[in-house]
Amino acid sequence: MTFARARHAGLGYLPQSSLVGTLELARFSLELFDVPLDCRSGLSLSDCRGLFIELSTTNFRQYSRLFAGSLKASQRNIEGLVLFDSNVRHILSCGRLRRRSLHTEDLSFNHIPRIISAISLPFLYYSPMLILGIETSCDETGLALFDTQRGLLAEALHSQVDLHAQFGGVVPELASRDHVRKIVPLTRHVLAQASCSLGDLDGIAYTAGPGLMGALLVGSSFAKSLALGLGIPALGIHHMEAHLLAPLIQPGAKPDTARNSAQAQDMLPFVALLVSGGHTQLVEVRDLGSYSILGESLDDAAGEAFDKAAKLLGLGYPGGPQIAAKALAGDPKRFRFPRPMTDRPGLDFSFSGLKTFTLNTVEKLGELTEQDVADIARAFEMAAVDTLVIKCRRALEQTRVKRLVIAGGVSANDYLRAQLQGQLDAEVIYAPPALCTDNGAMVAFAGALRLQQGASEDLSIKPRPRWPMTELQPI
Ligand code: KG4
Ligand code: ZN
Repeated sequence: MTFARARHAGLGYLPQSSLVGTLELARFSLELFDVPLDCRSGLSLSDCRGLFIELSTTNFRQYSRLFAGSLKASQRNIEGLVLFDSNVRHILSCGRLRRRSLHTEDLSFNHIPRIISAISLPFLYYSPMLILGIETSCDETGLALFDTQRGLLAEALHSQVDLHAQFGGVVPELASRDHVRKIVPLTRHVLAQASCSLGDLDGIAYTAGPGLMGALLVGSSFAKSLALGLGIPALGIHHMEAHLLAPLIQPGAKPDTARNSAQAQDMLPFVALLVSGGHTQLVEVRDLGSYSILGESLDDAAGEAFDKAAKLLGLGYPGGPQIAAKALAGDPKRFRFPRPMTDRPGLDFSFSGLKTFTLNTVEKLGELTEQDVADIARAFEMAAVDTLVIKCRRALEQTRVKRLVIAGGVSANDYLRAQLQGQLDAEVIYAPPALCTDNGAMVAFAGALRLQQGASEDLSIKPRPRWPMTELQPI
């Protein structure tokens, strides 16, 4: 039977004698089925009428019911099965099938068709996925829809800045309660924005840590229960990995994840400077998902230092953007702040001294004028940025890597970007400002990369307020 005739016959048929080459087979599956291949050298097929078959020699695990039901449903048409070395872990994402109720009892072994050949396919294609990304690690509720073929379809962000402003920092309990209020309306909002419904989702990615326990719990329980209800996978994402990958989201339309993933691979190796409100880390990235920490802050994070200095200057929260704005009018020569830990070897940081220096300067001046505030902001920003630039240069020299990715809230700082670009003999890559600070898109994107590679987890809800990046599995 030819491939063309097989199309009309319904589900896949290959003659017993056929020893099909990989490419030929890939073409065959593409012609006939809409979910041709999984990414771990396997094959999952569904025909035009929604019947489905997973072909696997190795591991059916929880999918055996689906497999059984598929055989039952399709037994009239199947004359042969091609078996592959397969472990189709994102099988549940195959939209049309997940609502079918399939029962192992339905399987009649009399109807199992002939096994024709066993073959292992290399990675060829990803099946498309629509991922809902949920960020609730701190004081921003971020939702986004990332489609692996069509790119970022919708985003919504609710910032709790006003809620926490009067306290000069994030109040964890208030943060959690506000996430509870916003998460459902924002989910509805992104779905409406993209003209999608819950039933279109293929997976949910949520921030599982690090972050505030209560805030993480809101996102993870919502994600897990929604995923369970929809019968799709939910995957916990490391917040700092999401930041780190955000600059790799290709701008513009239609960045399919396979291409994104390939382009991200092309960027390797790189050094990443992760600078947020909770973290300051230099990370060597030789493979996506496998991170070695070159250095980190021993006390305050860079963003935290910006926030504390802003508070001392009577500026609002978050302090980073406010210091940056004031610094524009500041005199760069009036004050010189220290560059902590740059006079000794190593890649660790310490920013708490900068805060003390700011405090002493403020106390010496007494009543601050507008110009005093601008001058101190300028001196602070120059010192913080210089420190980061010096350590980045060292990290690039030490690793002999020529590419630097900067990510996290502080990477939105224009002066930092300009200094890194001007002073380093390396390509500097960063995300658009909206993707530097916390957002749902970066979580959806990191989730898409991992879910398409077959990542999965059990149903338990286990947020990790502390979670070393070095514990992550390679993507
Ligand atoms: O990544 P992010 O949104 O949240 C965390 O994961 O912590 O980072 C927030 C931090 C805040 O400390 C904020 O002051 C800082 O990023 N930030 C900036 C700028 N925009 C945000 N710091 C310096 N310059 C900026 N333009
Ligand atoms: Zn963050």
